[in-house]
Amino acid sequence: MLNSRIRDVADYPKPGIVFKDITPLLADPAAFAAMTLEFVRIGRELGATKVVGLEARGFILAAPVAVNGDFGFVPVRKAGKLPGEVHAVSYQLEYGEAVLEIHRDSFQPGDRVLIVDDVLATGGTAAAALQAIGECGAETVGVAVLLELSFLPGRARLAEESPVLPVTSLLTV
Ligand code: PRP
Repeated sequence: MLNSRIRDVADYPKPGIVFKDITPLLADPAAFAAMTLEFVRIGRELGATKVVGLEARGFILAAPVAVNGDFGFVPVRKAGKLPGEVHAVSYQLEYGEAVLEIHRDSFQPGDRVLIVDDVLATGGTAAAALQAIGECGAETVGVAVLLELSFLPGRARLAEESPVLPVTSLLTV
């Protein structure tokens, strides 16, 4: 059901790229709920206490997981958006570099974090989040994404950071 709600958009954001558009899934309450409950199940199984969502699409997916699973929600944002004291991590994009930030006081001792995002592609974003969470003193117990692009090295990139970290994708292409 989830798969049929993801739309391929050719030549976006640039020629030759087929973009995976999740907006049809978000517009379907049954599909959105099924996805959310699957992420909640994963979080509970891993004993998560907090869900980290990655700006921007990751916020949409992670917030209902936090509410339905009774986890706290923590945003990882692009640079310059968080008002408090932040911890920043820079990471590689296809062209150039980007910075992710998290509030330094996001976690309490013993927090167990599930990272939730829409897509795992090169893994650069999730790996940077993993690093930021660790440097803020919390343990990441899993990464869960809606869609894994298995022709890109995201899973291997995360394994470099943490070889035993469970990485779950609800769909794989
Ligand atoms: C997208 C996507 C993931 C990331 C995956 O975010 O939402 O967070 O790229 O790519 P990676 O595994 O190669 O790092 P992006 O910042 O492009 O867009 P968004 O702000 O719309 O979520």
